[in-house]
Amino acid sequence: MTGAATTLIEQVTETSAAATAAALAPVLIDTVESGASVGWIEPPTPDEAILWWSALFADPDATTWIARDGDRALGTITLVRAAKRNGPHRAEVIKLMVHREARGRGIAPALLAALEQHAAATGLTLLVLDTETGSLAESLYARWGWQTVGGIPGYAVSPSGALGGTTIMYKRLTLRDS
Ligand SMILES: CC(C)(COP(=O)(O)OP(=O)(O)OC[C@H]1O[C@@H](n2cnc3c(N)ncnc32)[C@H](O)[C@@H]1OP(=O)(O)O)[C@@H](O)C(=O)NCCC(=O)NCCS
Repeated sequence: MTGAATTLIEQVTETSAAATAAALAPVLIDTVESGASVGWIEPPTPDEAILWWSALFADPDATTWIARDGDRALGTITLVRAAKRNGPHRAEVIKLMVHREARGRGIAPALLAALEQHAAATGLTLLVLDTETGSLAESLYARWGWQTVGGIPGYAVSPSGALGGTTIMYKRLTLRDS
């Protein structure tokens, strides 16, 4: 496994979508198995995971990045632009996840940097997200410059079966020329 310096970060395109959905299935399954609260309680089957990624890639408001080492996917992140007419400047960050075997190598901040650069370059000035209260991700987003709005207790059933809270966060982006 290589470090972040040799990991490629790429935007998923129509051409790469099918291969990427297959490559990201194990990342989603591993993330759920790791106990992270990313929408599932039980890990999806590989087929379910592929279908889920394929549906996401078909959403015209969504842009996804993949971190990969050769053909192997190590991590991913997605930007979902607000569909509402009053939110052309706004998007949500979802499904940041890094395979357990690749964690601690700076892949998540590299994915987030690619997303934020694209967001600013395409006119977005406000990003929002929610993340499990008390999770490592929550503390990392604060480190990466995200502001905490507050938390909602008992928001989601976690893989352990307990109800966990969610924390709402946002980040303002500076407009750039490119
Ligand atoms: C949160 C997450 C995306 C961070 O990804 P990452 O690429 O490992 O991030 P980094 O490389 O910057 O490491 C961040 C921290 O992970 C911890 N870490 C280090 N090595 C690790 C390892 N081998 N395994 C797990 N965590 C490790 C350290 O606390 C590290 O902080 P440090 O830089 O101060 O040492 C990843 O842990 C993950 O996928 N978690 C599950 C999914 C999730 O919670 N996503 C957020 C949904 S909103």
